[in-house]
Amino acid sequence: MDKLVIEGGKSLSGTVRIHGAKNAALPILAASLLADGEVNLTNVPHLLDIEVMLNILSRLGCQTRHEQENVIVDTSSANSFHVPDDLMKQMRSSIFLMGPLLARFGEVNIYQPGGCAIGERKIDLHLQGLKALGAEIQEVDGQIHCKASKLIGADVHMDFPSVGATENIMMAAATAQGTTTITNAAREPEIQDLQNFLNQMGANIIGAGTDTITIQGVTHLFPCSYEVIPDRIVAGTVMIAAAVTRGCVTLTHCNPAHLTSLIHVLKRAGVQIGVCNDIMNISCMSRPKAVERIITSPYPSFPTDLQSQVMVLLSLADGFSVMKETVFEGRFKHVNELAVMGADISIDLNCAFIRGVQRLYGATVEATDLRAGAALVIAGLAAQGKTIVEQVHHIDRGYDHIEKLFQKLGADIQRHTPVLKQLDLAN
Ligand code: EPZ
Repeated sequence: MDKLVIEGGKSLSGTVRIHGAKNAALPILAASLLADGEVNLTNVPHLLDIEVMLNILSRLGCQTRHEQENVIVDTSSANSFHVPDDLMKQMRSSIFLMGPLLARFGEVNIYQPGGCAIGERKIDLHLQGLKALGAEIQEVDGQIHCKASKLIGADVHMDFPSVGATENIMMAAATAQGTTTITNAAREPEIQDLQNFLNQMGANIIGAGTDTITIQGVTHLFPCSYEVIPDRIVAGTVMIAAAVTRGCVTLTHCNPAHLTSLIHVLKRAGVQIGVCNDIMNISCMSRPKAVERIITSPYPSFPTDLQSQVMVLLSLADGFSVMKETVFEGRFKHVNELAVMGADISIDLNCAFIRGVQRLYGATVEATDLRAGAALVIAGLAAQGKTIVEQVHHIDRGYDHIEKLFQKLGADIQRHTPVLKQLDLAN
């Protein structure tokens, strides 16, 4: 397994380009199954999760190519509605293939995705939404068999604004007969990106970005070309790293409007932030101030996907902060690792109480999930001494060579690949 070796204490400086959004590209790739022919996507990063999704589409009979940041998916040869279990296990969010496969084939077989490091990850809202559209669903031995001779538009109310469930229902409803209204829908920018992609294919959807989305079913969708939005979580990760290393960093090809809640928190911590179109400049010349309270919740509130990263900032801030995680019940696994580096954090249920310390110290730590791993990299960049981050594959799911991203900003960070794997890669 690869490791990242970081010599901390260097202030980041320079300019980086933010790559396309993993959590926009994944549902859009799934939605390509709703049309027959070649879909051409640009600004698609090289990430493990994208690779898994392309492998699944290939196993379903599609032709796929990923050159530079361009992905071409030809769905005309798609011939299966069985989502392979081995790939499903690698990426639970394959669950939003249900909507497109149900719409295309009238049937889909998929496995219960199960939980992961951050929580139980239930899918009841997905299943309730598809049932409302007329799907018959059987769950046998961990397999989900779903059938729908015809999908009929319906009113679907979400008990919780689930991102994935909202996306699944949008995709299933796009070619259903009649109108579907989703209330208490998720409002994330990635939902808006999916709406824009589906409408580019000929769908008739309005309301994404608000809590009510209306989908007028159409008979056919057509392949198209589309550019994926920038990754707001990667951008936020770099912004926080710039702040904790007291650096001065410029981000290009990002969308500041997607980061309002983080910008608000960073400014309260005393970080200077300049915004001009798709460019942001972040600088922090003194010790950040503590932020009394941050509560994660669905967009446009503070994103759960930046919770672990901003906890590193709070760990080094001057004062006492409280972080409340309301989206995932198990998303504090980075806390023990940060404590090994000298952070002073205590947990009570879904609240973290953080007393800022003057410095963190390099240590060997383990990434437990994607964003916890990113947080440990940030901590290593700020810490005094050497940090080794293990289980880097978690980070590679959502960051395109995170070490190169930070090397461009002057960080001393190297990826160490085991010799055996190097030999394997050479063959
Ligand atoms: C998406 O996951 C993102 N993943 C996650 O990003 C992100 O953290 C999450 O949305 C919240 O913003 C992708 O888009 C691929 P949810 P998703 O359904 O769709 C509960 C990352 O780091 N829930 O909004 O799975 C669930 O248990 C990843 O990039 C149900 O109870 O998130 C959780 O507590 C991590 N029943 C909460 O809702 C359901 O049917 C939020 O889940 C579905 C969800």
